[in-house]
Amino acid sequence: MGKVNVLVVGGAGYIGSHMVKELIEAGFDVTTLDNLSTGHRQSVTGGTFVHGDLSDQKLLDKIFSDKPVDAVMHFAAYSLVGDSVKNPIAYYRYNFNGTLSLVEAMLRNGIRRFIFSSTAAVYGEPETVPIPETHPCAPDNPYGAGKLAVERLISDCDSAYGLKYMSLRYFNAAGADASGQIGERHERETHLIPLVLQTALGRRPQIDIFGTDYGTPDGTCLRDYVHVTDLASAHLLALSSLMEGSESNIYNLGNSKGYSVREVIDLCREITGEPIPEREVERRAGDPAILVADSGKVRRELGWQPRYENLENIVESAWRWHQHQP
Ligand code: UFG
Repeated sequence: MGKVNVLVVGGAGYIGSHMVKELIEAGFDVTTLDNLSTGHRQSVTGGTFVHGDLSDQKLLDKIFSDKPVDAVMHFAAYSLVGDSVKNPIAYYRYNFNGTLSLVEAMLRNGIRRFIFSSTAAVYGEPETVPIPETHPCAPDNPYGAGKLAVERLISDCDSAYGLKYMSLRYFNAAGADASGQIGERHERETHLIPLVLQTALGRRPQIDIFGTDYGTPDGTCLRDYVHVTDLASAHLLALSSLMEGSESNIYNLGNSKGYSVREVIDLCREITGEPIPEREVERRAGDPAILVADSGKVRRELGWQPRYENLENIVESAWRWHQHQP
């Protein structure tokens, strides 16, 4: 058998680019499709790059007929919870319709292995913490609702057409590749850790804390931060499992430990040695108080073992990256 060929849709983005790098290092043949709306061409460190959109059926047909694709990993999505509340149409169009277009083209071309970037935002405010995959899904925002709708779509496509998928529900992706070559690079940054580190570098006057009256020990939201390279390693395991003929499945990806916004800021102060001014402001719409994964299932069934289990290592890797950004 030749090399396994993987199409990475959204491979120029933050998580996608780390995936491309891991796939290449693991010996896969990789094609990246990205419209570069939020991704960066320089972040794609190898393989074949195709500039285009996942709604372009002709382009997808061409990619799928140029060489046989064994599996598709789909990272391309708008991913800002707050934005999705303000602009649901754009989110449903890009995240749901876009995936529908991709899956339609895959099935037309006989490709039936799919790894989907889902999210902890499908759960909404949890009834139990840590959250297992069996927890009811009641998303608090259009972003989570759109991702959940895709999970339903691909499940129906499994029943009807035998699409085999792995839906990976990421908790809060953070950190940067150990090489320092790629990291989290958003033109408009909204995520907590990069914003705190940019504040440490003096590029922002202060970090805003969105809400201090949540029902959590210090009143700020708790999140489960997971290293981007560990997300990529989970995808490799999911891919092997699909290649071996496993059934479709859904897995949480997180470290099963929650850190509050204040704890994250304090840890960043320790690591950077900078004072990092803060300001308390109103809650941001669409934010659940707590999102912490029960990730026992992926550890048991796929043997996932994150390398960066504690937040200190995650922040250190992000700090190394941010210090070298212009
Ligand atoms: N926060 C602040 N100040 C900021 C930015 C964020 O207080 O300037 C808070 C948020 O309110 C939240 C926490 O920090 O409580 C984390 O916020 P992020 O924006 O970093 O991440 P989210 O939890 O909103 O969302 C991320 C991804 C989503 C994914 C979700 C799953 O962006 O795609 O994690 O947990 F769905």
